[in-house]
Amino acid sequence: MQQVDVNTAGGSYPIRIGKGRLDALGDAVPADASRIALVTNPTVAEHYGERARRALADSGKEVTLLTVPDGEAHKTMATLQHILDTLLQQRFDRRCLLVALGGGVIGDITGFAAAIFLRGVRFLQVPTTLLAQVDSSVGGKTGVNHVSGKNLIGAFYQPIGVEIDTDLLRTLPSREVSAGLAEVIKYGCILDAEFFAWCEQHAADLRALDPAALQYAIARSCELKAQVVGRDERESGERAILNFGHTFGHAIEAGLGFGEWLHGEAVGCGMVMAAQLSSLTCGLPTNAVERIRALVAAIGCPVQAPPLNGPQQWVELMQGDKKVTAGQIRFVLLPELGRAQVSAVPNGPLQEVLEATRNLAASSAGVPPA
Ligand code: NAD
Ligand code: GLY
Repeated sequence: MQQVDVNTAGGSYPIRIGKGRLDALGDAVPADASRIALVTNPTVAEHYGERARRALADSGKEVTLLTVPDGEAHKTMATLQHILDTLLQQRFDRRCLLVALGGGVIGDITGFAAAIFLRGVRFLQVPTTLLAQVDSSVGGKTGVNHVSGKNLIGAFYQPIGVEIDTDLLRTLPSREVSAGLAEVIKYGCILDAEFFAWCEQHAADLRALDPAALQYAIARSCELKAQVVGRDERESGERAILNFGHTFGHAIEAGLGFGEWLHGEAVGCGMVMAAQLSSLTCGLPTNAVERIRALVAAIGCPVQAPPLNGPQQWVELMQGDKKVTAGQIRFVLLPELGRAQVSAVPNGPLQEVLEATRNLAASSAGVPPA
């Protein structure tokens, strides 16, 4: 078992990573917890619900299973309301513990419920997708979607711990594995060129869920994210670099309709576009752009963006990004591999990237991700 510590003003907590963590969940329950609500969805519950319930019950506390529907479409105020109603109806008190067992959707919504139930109760993250294990369960961003956009309602609220069982990824569809790997290589792009090179060497092992490679990649990703979040918990500056590839990626997700491409797939393709833009605006060498494109392809994510309805629609969609300041779109750019900055760009290079994408996509328009 490996441990990475997160230290923020909003709370300090351990991330524990290893095989079999699920069966040791009882150890993570605070001695003074009154009772436990285990929040999950039917897909995850079928695989791991009973094991998680039993492990939590080893703490001697009463465990209530609270299931919500699976999918991004249910990351809503209505689902949040259902969780809060259930907790109130069943008279959960302020010393209760919420446990999020699932991917980023379950983690985000359970964390938000914990942030506002009785003005804040403790919660534990038990991420079961790769994306959640390397990104969403760490750092305390919680929330739900609104019809106006993704994650527009939420809170920064840190868990009391993150329990990562790498074995749980064995049941994850391979497309979800690739989407999670996009977030792994993101850390190499923005913070650690050596880690990027390691990912290049181990891309096949990672896709095959080789235990040693997986453990290292998850631990290194969590370490890098913990460092950034420790310096800038509430994204007043540096934390925005964690959104590398996301401005283009969100436009792909929204333009195609959410769910058509997985979030990680759109981010992977968005990183290739952001690398091209970096090459045109802040000196990223073209061989680094090619390395990023090759690695995104090697982990099984698409590298060719859909044309959408042309550059104008791209720009309109990117205007909805949370990094937009005074109407200006700001991009996470790489002056070199392993270093990132956030800035606006001149219109010319942006149009060039968007136009080039339309040309590229002309030969593969409508091709769904692998
Ligand atoms: P997800 O939670 O929808 O999970 C993907 C699918 O995999 C679901 O159908 C789920 O039921 C299933 N699943 C989960 N674990 C499984 C397992 N072990 N075996 C088999 N199936 C399993 O998607 P995700 O990619 O984990 O998360 C995406 C969400 O995370 C988005 O809502 C995004 O906004 C959010 N997010 C949040 C942050 C943050 O910092 N809070 C960061 C990145 C993404
Ligand atoms: N996933 C981006 C962040 O946590 O800030």
